[in-house]
Amino acid sequence: MENITKICCIGAGYVGGPTMAMIAKKCPHIQVTVVDLNEARIKAWNDEDVNNIPVYEPGLSDVVAEARGRNLFFSTEVDKAIDEAQMIFISVNTPTKTYGAGKGQAADLKWIELCARQIANISKDNKIIVEKSTLPVRTASAIKDILTHTGNGVQFQILSNPEFLAEGTAVEDLDAPDRVLIGGDNTPEGKVAVQALVDIYANWVPKERILTTNVWSSELSKLTANAFLAQRVSSINSLTEICEQTEADINEVAKAIGTDSRIGPKFLKASVGFGGSCFQKDILNLVYIARSYGLQEVADYWEQVIIMNDHQKRRFANQIIKNLYNTVNGKKIAFFGWAFKKDTNDTRESAAIYVADHLLNEQAHISVYDPKVPENQVYADLDYLNTREAEENKAGVQVITDPYEACKGSHAIAVLTEWDEFKGYDWQRIYDNMLKPAKIFDGRNLLDADKLRAIGFQVRSIGTNVLDK
Ligand code: NAI
Repeated sequence: MENITKICCIGAGYVGGPTMAMIAKKCPHIQVTVVDLNEARIKAWNDEDVNNIPVYEPGLSDVVAEARGRNLFFSTEVDKAIDEAQMIFISVNTPTKTYGAGKGQAADLKWIELCARQIANISKDNKIIVEKSTLPVRTASAIKDILTHTGNGVQFQILSNPEFLAEGTAVEDLDAPDRVLIGGDNTPEGKVAVQALVDIYANWVPKERILTTNVWSSELSKLTANAFLAQRVSSINSLTEICEQTEADINEVAKAIGTDSRIGPKFLKASVGFGGSCFQKDILNLVYIARSYGLQEVADYWEQVIIMNDHQKRRFANQIIKNLYNTVNGKKIAFFGWAFKKDTNDTRESAAIYVADHLLNEQAHISVYDPKVPENQVYADLDYLNTREAEENKAGVQVITDPYEACKGSHAIAVLTEWDEFKGYDWQRIYDNMLKPAKIFDGRNLLDADKLRAIGFQVRSIGTNVLDK
């Protein structure tokens, strides 16, 4: 294939938007069109005020501002973009199935298949298809099956190019990735396609960081990477419970083990549990794949990572109840943070949702403050669980745009997201306006517990055994 000059990406979400913006920034000679069926999302990507783009990521609006209108375009004209592109990235959602066989575990590939069929219908010339979405190992063969039976003689090469960016640091990660992984067929045509994608990344990524493998290794590596990362979180979280019983301190333990170069210091922060759209979904997928090959022990091993994570969220909620004298009925609990981690407005699978759900079952009143998450998202997340009627969620939860207001008259504050701004608050002012004893449950070990205790708060930081000293 000739040099790539026109790319299209199907799916303008948390991955499609930022990755394509970065390619457009680094490759001004390539026209990049990101398409989506969701008109509101595309409208937001095209908003005159670049601060209103639908994905919040530090530095992203600058990248978009530089390239948008030059060689970066957002559009709902999916067919046109497919027709014109030489290379098509598929970056649509691949959530866990909520129905039928594999419900609750397998990835729902409905949207991937729709994309493949649409590409098959529209294409009139040869194209390279790039799986950007995270997919179960061997998905490329399903896509290939659809694309090779069009009967119109068009040739497709299918590559796997999983995305390793982390939300909250997407721009940094895309600008200087640890590695880029490209999987392709080991045929002459496959090698040409791989090289075409390598050439795009080589515009800014050092060659030694661009790894090429066969398609299946690439697909499986993405699931594996997320499984390993989530496993580290569940491992450290499992030890918080031991720390709380034994007067060991999880922060000290994490530091002590993290200095071992074989273990390393990253991803050892104890918390109320991991969230985000990927970790749980990808592990469940791995578990499903293992089970479908009859690998029961392998499946059980990875499933435990999810079991521990669910336990941690429930445990945190139960601690709040227990420490509020075994009832939160009618009590006001302020949530600091709703996003699944700091520096993102993404709330998918956020621990906050599950902790809130548990406390609402106990008739608590929750007031939520998050610097980036809008009110309608909080309600949508709770309604999605289907635990109670939407009106009941509205009655039990208030979303407040001022953190000081959110905790006025509250019995307790629960820190659910590690937003930096929480550390700089006027905690004396917060204390003065709360009911006493004023309690803080720090699910992220974010705040300086000693300072807060000096003010008068009773503080419980996860993985340390003290509520008040
Ligand atoms: P998302 O839900 O934010 O975006 C997906 C977009 O695709 C939506 O806007 C949806 O309207 C659009 N879409 C679905 N079907 C379509 C079709 N047929 N035509 C046009 N548009 C269509 O999802 P997100 O977070 O961007 O994830 C995409 C994939 O990337 C998933 O497979 C995910 O596992 C993977 N991934 C996500 C990461 C993350 O941090 N969010 C990181 C690495 C991989």
